[in-house]
Amino acid sequence: MTTPFVHDVPASRVVFGNGRLADVGAELERLGCSRAMLVSGGPEAQYADRIDVQLGSRIVARFTDVVMHVPVPVARQAIVRASEYEVDVVIALGGGSSTGMAKAVALETGLPILAIPTTYAGSEMTSIWGLTENNRKTTGRDPRVLPRTVIYDPELTLTLPADISAASGMNALAHLVEGLYAPGVSPISAMQAREGVRALAASLPRVVANPDDLEARGDALYGAGLAGWTLGTTGMGVHHKICHVLGGAYNLPHAPMHSAVLPYATAFNGAAAPEAMAAIVSALNDAGLPATDAASGIWDLARAIGSPTCLVDVGFAPESIAEATAVIVAGQPVNPRVVDEHGVAALLAAACAGARPEATA
Ligand SMILES: NC(=O)c1ccc[n+]([C@@H]2O[C@H](COP(=O)([O-])OP(=O)(O)OC[C@H]3O[C@@H](n4cnc5c(N)ncnc54)[C@H](O)[C@@H]3O)[C@@H](O)[C@H]2O)c1
Repeated sequence: MTTPFVHDVPASRVVFGNGRLADVGAELERLGCSRAMLVSGGPEAQYADRIDVQLGSRIVARFTDVVMHVPVPVARQAIVRASEYEVDVVIALGGGSSTGMAKAVALETGLPILAIPTTYAGSEMTSIWGLTENNRKTTGRDPRVLPRTVIYDPELTLTLPADISAASGMNALAHLVEGLYAPGVSPISAMQAREGVRALAASLPRVVANPDDLEARGDALYGAGLAGWTLGTTGMGVHHKICHVLGGAYNLPHAPMHSAVLPYATAFNGAAAPEAMAAIVSALNDAGLPATDAASGIWDLARAIGSPTCLVDVGFAPESIAEATAVIVAGQPVNPRVVDEHGVAALLAAACAGARPEATA
């Protein structure tokens, strides 16, 4: 029997395909907007330059000071720029950091966002915003920050280096894993999450082996889109809480940190979320991976693509376990297994050791 559920899907328009960057002008028209601020940082700026040429006078301002985890003072600058230039839409081009900066503007001003993601972070499909101040990251949900339109163009991801692609893909995988046991899971979201796990597990090894493989890039971006959608429609558990705390307090690199925590968070929840674990294993198998257990299967995938499986390797000091544990437990994440000090400290210690997780009974 199908269990009762609520499936609350926020609306956004998704345009997916190679070369779809060329559609930005038409998509802006669809939104009824003509004064855009283009937010992009880092090497993604090369694609922003193309949009600038394509849209001409419809780009009235640019903001390139994109910083991971969206520091409040930088967000304020972006908000002021949007106001000074009387923009009517924000175009977020880049990874989760660019999308996050655009979301900070939308949160304050209510301006619509058109997102063009170039990593696998998935933020473009969620109404979750994040801001960092005094080493504390605050997040929340607000429908105003959900991009109205998302253009996925796999060609833009060809320049994403193999190591960043691998870690970013593990970040997406984390959304899918937690979405399978989050309180908001429905049969529909579980189906999509399982497909996302399959698509990422099948494509990431090909992306890392050959970053120019456009077909693999497309499959990975598709999986990442499903991951963002899953995160946005379901919720999170202990894994995201840990990463939220560690990212804010110790400034660890976002995607590599997700990669290093995920196998151990999955093992932590293994016995408490058997249906989710079975879905992950079968999706990994469908992707051609010989997994028999979710946590060790995820660890194997991370190792195969050269993504971190050890928290110390991404800059976390084991001496901080007790301090971090207290903050994580105080945050009271909703999670299939009770989140207590003993369990979280053991999880973090395992992530610091970096060994392959034992199969869950
Ligand atoms: N709100 C949400 O729903 C949500 C979801 C996931 C992540 N996030 C946030 O997103 C941020 C992390 O995003 P991220 O992991 O994408 O990192 P990022 O946006 O900082 O990108 C990582 C690196 O890749 C580079 N890069 C991006 N695209 C590239 C491309 N196509 N070619 C070459 N280089 C490229 C960037 O310049 C950067 O150096 C964090 O702040 C995290 O909290 C938010």
